[in-house]
Amino acid sequence: MIQHPAQIPPEEMRQLLGSVWARQFLKPGGDAAKGRKVAETKKCITCHDHGPGPSFASLKGSFTVLNLTSALWSHGPNMLAQMQQKKISWPRLSAVDVDNLLAYINSPAAAGPSAKAGSTGD
Ligand code: HEC
Repeated sequence: MIQHPAQIPPEEMRQLLGSVWARQFLKPGGDAAKGRKVAETKKCITCHDHGPGPSFASLKGSFTVLNLTSALWSHGPNMLAQMQQKKISWPRLSAVDVDNLLAYINSPAAAGPSAKAGSTGD
């Protein structure tokens, strides 16, 4: 039986896929600090710093543009429902945004500022 696809608006999906497509023309490696900004302005951190989404720190290390896209696709309906509840619109991400987000999610900085508090120092 064929499952219904995630309820991501077609226009947004086109942009996501456009990012994947554009990726091949970009130099790999975004900027983690800029990625943090993207996560802030696109409100990702509203849910991913303190829940209900998984913290980016717990996801770090393994994201590529492809599995980020597929994660957003497969988690889309759940995430979208949460976003509608919080009145956050589905984020529009440019290819550069995605690159920077990836650098951020994959970096230790994704643990966020509060993570330093728990550190016992070097
Ligand atoms: C309104 C809350 C909310 C916002 C805003 C949000 N997310 Fe999520 N996100 C979730 C939830 C909840 C899940 C877990 C969904 C599930 O398990 O089905 C999730 C899952 C994910 C996953 C999959 C994690 C995995 O285990 O594979 C990724 C990646 C992700 N989000 C990235 C983002 C990015 C990037 C943004 C901003 C552009 C964002 N999210 C914005 C709530 C949110």
